[in-house]
Amino acid sequence: MSWLQACGLDEDVFHDQTAVVTGATSGIGQAVALALKRAGAKVWLVGRRLTDGPGSSCVDLSDVDQIERLGKTLRSSLSQVDILVHAAGVLRVGPLEQATAEDLDMLYKVNLRAPFLLTKALLPLLRVRPGQVVFVNSSVGLTAKSGAGLYSATKYGLRALADSLRQEVNADGIRVISIFPGKTATPMHEADKQRCPERFLQPSDVAASILYSLALPCRGELTDLALRPLRK
Ligand SMILES: NC(=O)c1ccc[n+]([C@@H]2O[C@H](COP(=O)([O-])OP(=O)(O)OC[C@H]3O[C@@H](n4cnc5c(N)ncnc54)[C@H](OP(=O)(O)O)[C@@H]3O)[C@@H](O)[C@H]2O)c1
Repeated sequence: MSWLQACGLDEDVFHDQTAVVTGATSGIGQAVALALKRAGAKVWLVGRRLTDGPGSSCVDLSDVDQIERLGKTLRSSLSQVDILVHAAGVLRVGPLEQATAEDLDMLYKVNLRAPFLLTKALLPLLRVRPGQVVFVNSSVGLTAKSGAGLYSATKYGLRALADSLRQEVNADGIRVISIFPGKTATPMHEADKQRCPERFLQPSDVAASILYSLALPCRGELTDLALRPLRK
């Protein structure tokens, strides 16, 4: 039995839905894109390591013009967006004393500005059926820790963005989900020599939680989902 069936969901629960997933080339975004495809959705992939074509876009999300072009492409190619997943993200670690303005600028552009601009560009398509927006946040977007202050700051901002958006678009029937995963075994942590990936969540665990949240009956909305590795 698949986990979809174990959760009481059909294998093709998203069969008539169109999804746009950023960060689709790696880690959590790639796992979400794969899981959505397996569950029947048509998925449009966004990342720098992709080629432009039907169903995928090569976009540097730190660049405002490229996001604007992506918005235009999606508005001319799709009649609606049922699911928008913001999974692209960057991490910089180290004490604040050693962090630079460039570090903050890059984190801000990819982790906060890009989800804002892309959501805004796709709101007309999200209103059509209406759709759902998922922000992949982080456990440090709820409780900041030493050594990742700038990253946390952008994730706190992302939470504020999601909370405000929810209040503005719920009336249109659009649902907004923030997920706050703990450490997950993806390339994001490869540089960390102290890491214990065997204790981490797997990208597929995060993807399963997101799909489950997306598949909930549309009378309600799962707003915030904190997911932690069992073994710390
Ligand atoms: N791993 C964790 O422990 C963890 C925990 C909590 C939350 N998160 C969050 O989960 C999300 C996914 O992270 P991950 O762990 O899956 O990391 P990852 O494996 O490093 O993937 C990051 C993704 O972001 C995309 N990306 C980065 N910079 C980009 C840019 N300038 N333009 C376009 N795309 C860009 C990358 O695509 P390209 O390189 O192809 O552009 C890649 O697909 C992030 O938002 C992260 O903050 C991760």
